[in-house]
Amino acid sequence: MSETRHQHASLPVNLAQKASLIEQQWSPRVVAEMNDYQIKVVRIEGEFIWHSHPETDEAFLVLEGILRIDLPEGCVHVNAGELYVVPRGVEHRTAAQGEAKLMMIEPRGILNTGHEGGEKTAQNDVWI
Ligand code: NI
Repeated sequence: MSETRHQHASLPVNLAQKASLIEQQWSPRVVAEMNDYQIKVVRIEGEFIWHSHPETDEAFLVLEGILRIDLPEGCVHVNAGELYVVPRGVEHRTAAQGEAKLMMIEPRGILNTGHEGGEKTAQNDVWI
């Protein structure tokens, strides 16, 4: 196989390294796109606000720390290496005691606060 076949390959995304570059907690950053979906990393600590996304499911993969997701029927704890999908339209609140680093998968254009708005709404579509 010729070397030239490898010249234009993009670099793999190191999720932990990308997460470490984020300056502020609760500020999701895009690291890749797949079709209409964006893959984001975020650092969180403390409690977010209750919100929902009427148009889409939202996937969380925990890279480091423990993510608590409060849901109408109770809470789930998601450990490093574990994945949880919040179904479309279900109210949820993410939280972490101490810092947690997460990867998220959701369609392009989805705001972190859903339709709630407010000061916790992060700027969307910011790449790192
Ligand atoms: Ni959400």
